Amino acid sequence: MATIMDSMTVKPLSDALGVEVSGVNAADLGEATFKELREIFHENLVVVVKDQDLSPAEQTEFAQRFGEIQYHISPEYLMDGQPEVMILSNEKEDGKFIGLPDGGSEWHSDHSYVDQPTGYTMLHAIKVPKDGGDTEWTNMVKAYETLSDEMKERLEGVIGIHSFNRLKNQRLTVPVRHMNDPDYYKRSPPDAFHPIARTHPHTGKKALYISPRFTIGIKDMDDTEAQPLLDKLFAHIKNRDFIYRHRWTEGDLLMWDNRTTLHLALLGVPEGQARRMHRTTVLGEIPF
Ligand code: SIN
Repeated sequence: MATIMDSMTVKPLSDALGVEVSGVNAADLGEATFKELREIFHENLVVVVKDQDLSPAEQTEFAQRFGEIQYHISPEYLMDGQPEVMILSNEKEDGKFIGLPDGGSEWHSDHSYVDQPTGYTMLHAIKVPKDGGDTEWTNMVKAYETLSDEMKERLEGVIGIHSFNRLKNQRLTVPVRHMNDPDYYKRSPPDAFHPIARTHPHTGKKALYISPRFTIGIKDMDDTEAQPLLDKLFAHIKNRDFIYRHRWTEGDLLMWDNRTTLHLALLGVPEGQARRMHRTTVLGEIPF
């Protein structure tokens, strides 16, 4: 395994967060290299492993090294024969999308609307359009650390309310394709309650854990106080100093830590250009 470790190169992606790793094969990582990679990942929040040629089964096995797979609550875009992989794509077959076409179009952390949200997400870039389709991540550790002491004190022990249901979220509109689809809203789990200042289980660092997509209010706080506070925090997390924008290359295996980042799919892919990503999610802990 020494040869694999020796060939691994790591370079920063931006001042905000992230590193690029090359010279490794995610389908064939020795234990020592895997542990080193996981350490680098926790410290840098986003890792893109370049030039990966992984089958969906190999991607699943790689994800399982980080923990238990978390299945998405929308079953329609899970891959036939490999449901651990969800397809994100604008491609159509027989007039129907083969994957979720507009996933991630508001800032969010994956599955924060359940009691035990996602720890890690991996996206494998299978088809990348010439134009559009970039993704952004914001560093929620920096977002927390740059709050005033007064704000940090105000947030101590404060609990955010998270919901999948767009109808409960005053900041969102309902996409046309869900307007006449009551089943989509029926599948929404009960609201989840998580600390707004969350501690990372491995690094011990604190991060803000809220998002415009899923955080709809604050427990035991009237909306007249809670919504302006959320607006202030949502404006703060969009500071460009905290944000990295990724331009995808086919073969990128990009993973992010959902405890310490939010992400946003910028969409904007022109008609006729294909984008296809294979996504796996790994269960995290109950936030504390
Ligand atoms: C996601 O939110 O998981 C999708 C991100 C992307 O497709 O760029």
